Amino acid sequence: MKWLWATDIHLNTANEAEALQFYESIRQADADALIITGDIATGPGLARYLRVLEAALRMKIYFVLGNHDYYYDSIAAIRNRIPKQLSGSPYLSWLADSQVVPINSEVTLVGHGAWGDARLGPALNTPVRLNDHVMIEELAGHSRSKLVGLLNDLGAEAAEYLSKVISKALETSRHVLVATHVPPFREAAWYQGEISDDNWLPHFSCAAVGEILLKLAQQNPDKEITVLCGHTHGRGYYEARENLRVHTGGAVYRYPQIEAALNIEGSSIALNRQHNPRQE
Ligand SMILES: [Fe+2]
Ligand SMILES: [Fe+2]
Repeated sequence: MKWLWATDIHLNTANEAEALQFYESIRQADADALIITGDIATGPGLARYLRVLEAALRMKIYFVLGNHDYYYDSIAAIRNRIPKQLSGSPYLSWLADSQVVPINSEVTLVGHGAWGDARLGPALNTPVRLNDHVMIEELAGHSRSKLVGLLNDLGAEAAEYLSKVISKALETSRHVLVATHVPPFREAAWYQGEISDDNWLPHFSCAAVGEILLKLAQQNPDKEITVLCGHTHGRGYYEARENLRVHTGGAVYRYPQIEAALNIEGSSIALNRQHNPRQE
């Protein structure tokens, strides 16, 4: 089977020609399904962009949401609205509601967007501020310490969700593919070929998810976990354990691209990054 992976496509920043080129590259690849690891658009237009994408591709699209998908909106409103706006779609599937998607008899897909959870790096003192903390209703207008608490809670919620679905997936499959937005480890927070500066780490890693991934990988040495993430817009790879691999996808605003093709056979997933001159 051939699945495709794209991340941080930020469709609201692409002009029509660039968007059409992206859709055409996916159609040409003749794949079975597409995984998108977040930052698809921004809140108010999110459902519309997803509907355009599905009309252009007419293939299964499994996605998680990134921080930008909540911009000009609220987390609660998006979580409430998106399932209703996409209901009845034969192609679009938000990896929420405890979904465990069988890819074949040995490989399953689960996902959650997660958050930069302010556990790593100097969360209280970093000079780095994200637009998240202005543009997302729940995160706006707080003191630094209150904000760090909220981000810690969002990370814990993501970790709890993923712990539950990954455990469930491991019961029936040898290899679990985890789609998330924010890198779960410092070593996966790639930016321009290097690990992100410490000041970015509070916002570029979801350490709570990293902890549960390590635990589950250790408890299941005969199983494999492969993580796909994005958010930092820098390509990279990190082998956290022999059976726990993390691929971080690259992205450039305005130019949505296929990040990789996943060739899935039996329990093995071979990931082939696509040529992208803007990333190399
Ligand atoms: Fe992004
Ligand atoms: Fe992001």
